[in-house]
Amino acid sequence: MSNTPPTSHTRLLKWVNSFVELCQPDSVHWCDGSENENTQLCDLLVEKGVFTRLNPEKRPNSFLARSSPSDVARVEDRTFICTRLKEEVGPTNNWASAKEMKSLLAEKFKGCMKGRTMYIIPFCMGPIDSPLAKIGIEITDSAYVVINMRIMCHMGSHVLRRLEDEVAGNVPVKRFDHGDYVPCVHTVGAPLEPGQEDASWPCNEEKYICHFPETREIWSYGSGYGGNALLGKKCLALRIACTIAREYDWMAEHMLLLGVHAPSGEKTYVAAAFPSACGKTNMAMIVPPEKFRKEGWKTTIVGDDIAWIWPDEDGRLHAINPETGYFGVAPGTSYKTNPIAMDSIKENCIFTNVALTDDGDIWWEGMDGEPPAHAIDWKGNDWTPESESPAAHPNARFTAPAAQCPTIDPEWQNPKGVPLSAIIFGGRRPTTMPLVYQSFNWSHGVYMGATMGSETTTAAIGLAAGVRRDPMAMLPFCGYNMGQYFQHWLNMRNKVREMPRFFHVNWFRLDKNGKFLWPGFGENMRVLKWIVDRCHGHAGGHESAIGWVPHREEFDLDGLDNFTEEKFAEVMKIDLEEWRAEFLSQGDLFLKLYTTIPKEIVFQRELLAGRLS
Ligand code: OXD
Ligand code: MN
Repeated sequence: MSNTPPTSHTRLLKWVNSFVELCQPDSVHWCDGSENENTQLCDLLVEKGVFTRLNPEKRPNSFLARSSPSDVARVEDRTFICTRLKEEVGPTNNWASAKEMKSLLAEKFKGCMKGRTMYIIPFCMGPIDSPLAKIGIEITDSAYVVINMRIMCHMGSHVLRRLEDEVAGNVPVKRFDHGDYVPCVHTVGAPLEPGQEDASWPCNEEKYICHFPETREIWSYGSGYGGNALLGKKCLALRIACTIAREYDWMAEHMLLLGVHAPSGEKTYVAAAFPSACGKTNMAMIVPPEKFRKEGWKTTIVGDDIAWIWPDEDGRLHAINPETGYFGVAPGTSYKTNPIAMDSIKENCIFTNVALTDDGDIWWEGMDGEPPAHAIDWKGNDWTPESESPAAHPNARFTAPAAQCPTIDPEWQNPKGVPLSAIIFGGRRPTTMPLVYQSFNWSHGVYMGATMGSETTTAAIGLAAGVRRDPMAMLPFCGYNMGQYFQHWLNMRNKVREMPRFFHVNWFRLDKNGKFLWPGFGENMRVLKWIVDRCHGHAGGHESAIGWVPHREEFDLDGLDNFTEEKFAEVMKIDLEEWRAEFLSQGDLFLKLYTTIPKEIVFQRELLAGRLS
């Protein structure tokens, strides 16, 4: 491992040096991203007790990490968008004055890396030759972060070389951004005094996850977990990227990307936004039911969490996945719910906060088969099936390289991305929302996305009582004012010649007895097939008060045992009373965003009122 700065990029060197001075690390390491470096860092973490090496026969080249119980998830209430004016961020974000937050953080960062190594990570979100690829440099004092970043994005010396080439003008200037790297600084906020013993998961009780969209910087303090610390993901690829996208006419979205391959050979790519905890990874890795596979249907995954979308020269929207790995929720993942994920995590993975079995493998609630008779839980304690607390933390994660996913799309690293035919929104809606419907047009589609969300309670009277609106699934990730974000979506229509279609889906509708109406999982392929048919004009559909819906005959229910005509009618029912309650409930969002909500969205609300009256 070398200490010599391996770059001629003077501004970058100056920036790094200013943080060396501020954070006072014991040593500085520029990451080259090599296999050798990775092995050394994994060995170091094993030695320090941060990593447990899993049984190489069961889970080759894989490790388990246990976090501090106070550091187990993204911390939305400690996530700030820092600007000069509060109006810039709107009512759905935590605002802080950029100036005040900078001086507060400068205090916090003073000496924060004492006794630790500072790692400099050059990384690139997106295929490096893509017009949308975005370079970031993350400074961190966590080797765990380095190892996870290496899985989650392109990382190492080749990215640094690319950045130097861009700065020197040796590669064409990108159409889609301001042509600079995004500086990201991260510390666990736990300096070590000489001789002080380190914690196995150092972190600080106080956390600050701060974004500065005006200067395009990220500062993260106090947490070592997931999106708080792997700054390329939610912080850069969503919160900062969406502010760049707004300026340069593209879109940074919280969406999965998947390919549907028809027996005819026709390939259709769709993007889908669902709030967290709605099975996005499962959908991205959907396996069509046997009947479909026999007919020749196939699905492939481009991405499971984030999509960067731009209007390409060919007039269509194109999309890339800016990530190269999956940071998936482990509990509930099994061969029954998501066989593709299970096959993607066989080796070369990091598992965080899952249980350790006696034979050195991992386990979590919902995995196939019987629970182990004994395990070590995520807190490091003995666990048996009789234990009262879960063996794995509910937000336990696997970090897995996307390249080892068996259904990875051959185009997933194509710099030109994949052309999008459909954009799907969805939420967890026990009532009101039919299985699938299509918007009348682009602005209605934007309205559909703007008002999407999940029901927080199952309303006893069958009406949508508490819906947490999560516009385009971007509520925790939109780096500017949500009303202006809707306007950006509306504006994008004029940049596209061949429009994608918009759909809303709901796998979670309940019957009178509180049972799911739709069988879900692989059967969602039937909904996808109707969507694909609609995109290519193969299905007629008919107009309803809320949008286009399938005719029973054009919806493939063949081979779906016990799913009667009556059930189809029930799962597709548009109950006007429920919809009037939905309409009123959507009003809360309009009140909240009153000062910035675009007129076109208000008109869409009026049109819906008219259709429901
Ligand atoms: C995620 C999330 O972890 O959306 O991807 O919360
Ligand atoms: Mn997500």
